[in-house]
Parts: sequence; C-alpha cells; structure tokens
Amino acid sequence: MPQRLDRKNQMNKGNFAATVEDVRNTLRFLEQMGCKGFDASSEVLNTLAAWGRKDVFSVETLEDIRTDLGDCQRCRLSEGRTNIVFGCGTAHAKLIFIGEGPGYEEDRQGQPFVGAAGQLLTKIIEAIKLTRNQVYICNIVKCRPPGNRNPMPDEIAACSPFLRRQIAAIHPDFICTLGSFAAQTLLETKEPISKLRGIFYDYMGIKVMPTYHPAFLLRNPDKKRSVWEDMKKLMKALGID
Ligand code: URA
Repeated sequence: MPQRLDRKNQMNKGNFAATVEDVRNTLRFLEQMGCKGFDASSEVLNTLAAWGRKDVFSVETLEDIRTDLGDCQRCRLSEGRTNIVFGCGTAHAKLIFIGEGPGYEEDRQGQPFVGAAGQLLTKIIEAIKLTRNQVYICNIVKCRPPGNRNPMPDEIAACSPFLRRQIAAIHPDFICTLGSFAAQTLLETKEPISKLRGIFYDYMGIKVMPTYHPAFLLRNPDKKRSVWEDMKKLMKALGID
C-alpha cells in the first residue's frame, strides 16, 4: 500500500512523462536483447503479483479461480470423480498445506484431508498452535485418482495452473508439502522425501518445508518424531512459540 501512495504522488507531481520515457527505454533495451513480445496472460500476471507486486497487478480471488475451474473436464480424472476438491481454509493463510490428491472420503465430501489421514493432519496443525481455519489446505490434483494411484504427468499439467493461481492468490509466507509426491512436483525434483524433508526451499519467493504425508505416518508412527522436528522449524519461522 505505501508503494501505491508513492506512485500516486509521483503521478501528481507530473512525473508521468518521465515514467513513460522509462518504460520506452526499457522496451528499447529489451528489443535490442532480442525480445519479441510479452506473455501477458493472467497466469503470468498473477505470478508477478505473487512476487510481492500486489500494488501493480490486481490479484484474482480464490472464488475467481474456482469459477474459472468450473465443472472441470481438462483431464481423465474428471470421469471418475464425485466432487472437485478445490481446497479449504482462509485466503489470508500464512501457511498452505499441499497434499497429493483427494482420497475416497475427500472425493465424497468435496473437502481435502477429511479422512483418516486428514484427522492426523488436523492434529499436526493443532500441534503447531493453529487451526484448520487459519491455514489453507489443498492438493496437487483436485480430483481423486482411481484407486488412489499417483496422478499422471498430464493430469498434473492440467491441474497445476490452478494450484499456482491459488498459491498466487493467497500468497502465503510458507508452504508445507505432505509426502514425496507433493514435494517432488512442487520443487521439480526426483529426490526422495527422506532427503527433502526438514529443509526450507524456495517456490515463487515462498518458503517450502517438505515433510512426510500423514497417511505415511499412520503406517509408520515412528516417523512422527521427524515430522514434529519439521513442524518446530515451521513454527519458529512463523514466529509461533
Ligand atoms: N491424501 C492427500 O494427499 N490429500 C487428501 O486430500 C487426502 C488424503
């Protein structure tokens, strides 16, 4: 907001011509560098907005993105789904949890992480002194893969622009990826989750903490200690004590 005021003052002081001249010089420079055009799609503008430039580009809302998603038929996962699982929580979240994809119960209810793994995720969120309403929860894909198989690359490709737009709209300080699939997809790596977890990474200027998936913890309760170590790092970074 202060930046918006600065810009307004600048205009009021009659610096508009200077600003136009700056833009023209920048365009000339880009032309000399071989630039032939610009991608001004809403996706690119929203990515730019996510880089802390909310004052310059208006950011779309989660409702806008949900409306645009519509009754999505962009990939084969639409054929077997009961409900699209868009995401839940607050648009003002400082922390987003990202899982893999909806399971049976999530598909039935249209809400993420509401089955057995979801109940454990709720406990993890409460252990870091937050509630589900204070964070945002979503998945790499929004429709249940049949038999809970991993989503396929073309299914992820169809869904990921919407996830990117959700992240841009919320613009959280932190993302916590749950399980190897979410971490590997978001961070574009093949490293195993055992190597990735417990370390902060960068995604569009947002700090990402990968940790184990709650469903994995249900099968391997001895790994809960590692998740708690990861959550303590997140709490510290979030300023929660
Ligand atoms: N597992 C996930 O990865 N996401 C859900 O929403 C539920 C279970």
